Amino acid sequence: MSNDKKIDELSGTEVTGHEWDGIEELNTPMPRWWLGIMLLTVVWSVGYVILMPGIPLLNSYTKGLLGHTDRGRVDTAITDMHEARSVYAQKLLTTDFQAVLKDPDLLDDPAVFRFALAQGKSLFGDNCETCHGARGRGFIGYPNLNDDIWLWGGSFNEIRQTITYGIRSTHDESRLSIMSAFGRDEILTREEIKSLTDHVLSLSDTTKDKSPRGATLFAQNCVSCHGENGGGSREFGAPDLTDADWLYGGSRAQIRTTIFNGRQGMMPHWNQRLSADQIVALSVYVHSLGGGE
Ligand code: HEC
Ligand code: HEC
Repeated sequence: MSNDKKIDELSGTEVTGHEWDGIEELNTPMPRWWLGIMLLTVVWSVGYVILMPGIPLLNSYTKGLLGHTDRGRVDTAITDMHEARSVYAQKLLTTDFQAVLKDPDLLDDPAVFRFALAQGKSLFGDNCETCHGARGRGFIGYPNLNDDIWLWGGSFNEIRQTITYGIRSTHDESRLSIMSAFGRDEILTREEIKSLTDHVLSLSDTTKDKSPRGATLFAQNCVSCHGENGGGSREFGAPDLTDADWLYGGSRAQIRTTIFNGRQGMMPHWNQRLSADQIVALSVYVHSLGGGE
C-alpha cells in the first residue's frame, strides 16, 4: 500500500496501484468487524480442540481436557430418568388413589397421576391386551374394561385386588367362585336346562315368553350367586343377567352352553410378574378407561 493515496475518480475509492491495460484495482479491504469475528472463531476453535474431543488419530482421537463423550451424556440422562422414575414409583405407592380418584382435589402433585396413566397404558399394552383387547375393549369371555359393568368391582381398590391376585388363578388369595356345569355334571336334566334358558332369556328381554318352571329352578339353583332377580353379585363375580350385556353371549345356544358347562374365566395374578407400583399404575389406568367407580 503506497503512502500517497491515489483515489479512483469514478468510485471515489482508493486504488492499489495495480493496473492492467488501463483497468485499475480498487482497494476494498475486509471490514474490521468481519476480520474481528474471524479471528475470534480461530481462537475459539483452538480452545475447543484443547477442551473437547477433536482431532481424529489412526485408531482413536484426541479426548480433550473435559473428557466429554456423547455416550457418557446418554448414560447420565438414563440415570437421571431412572432416578426420576423411582421417585414417582415411590409416590405411586404412597398416594391414596382410592380417595384421589373420587376427589381429584386431594391430589397434591398432578404429575403423579399423569405418570400413573402413562405407565399404566404402556404396561397394559405389554401385558393385558392379548386377552382384553386394544384399550381393554374385550372379547367373548374377556370382559370389556371400558364400561361400568363390573364382575368383581370397579373401585380402585377392587381393581387393584383383581390385578394383584387374579381370578380363579393359582394364587391362594385369588378371587374365586365356580359356577357348576349343571348339565355336564348331571345336576339338572336337559329339560330343566331348557326351561332355565327360557327364564334367563326372559330376564333381559321382556318380549320373551316367561317360564314358570324355569323361574322355580332358578330360585332353587341360581339365586345364591346371581341374586333373587338375577341382578348378579360382585361377591361371587356373578354377572347381572337382567342387562343386555353378555360376557359369554346372549343367544339361546350360548346361554344354554353356559348353564350346561358352567364358565370359569381365568385371569392370571400379576403380583409375581409386576411390581407393586406397576400394579397401582395399571389400576389407575383401568379405572380411568371409563368405568371407574
Ligand atoms: C390370560 C388372559 C388375561 C390376561 C393376560 C389378563 N386378563 Fe384380566 N381378565 C381375564 C378374564 C378371563 C377375566 C374375567 C374373569 C371372570 O370371568 O371373572 C378378567 C378380568 C379382569 C378384571 C375384572 C373385571 C371386572 O369386571 O371385575 C380386571 C380389572 C382385569 N381383568 C384387568 C387386567 C389387567 C390390568 C391385565 C394386565 C395386567 C389383565 N387383566 C390381563 C383374562 C386376562
Ligand atoms: C356359585 C355361584 C353361581 C351359581 C350357583 C350360578 N352361577 Fe351363573 N355364573 C356365576 C359366575 C361366577 C359367572 C361368571 C363366570 C365367569 O366369569 O367366567 C356366571 C355366569 C353365568 C352366565 C353368563 C352370563 C354372561 O354375561 O354371559 C349365565 C347365563 C349364568 N351364569 C346363569 C346361571 C344359571 C341359570 C344358574 C342356575 C342354574 C347359575 N348361573 C348358577 C356364578 C354362579
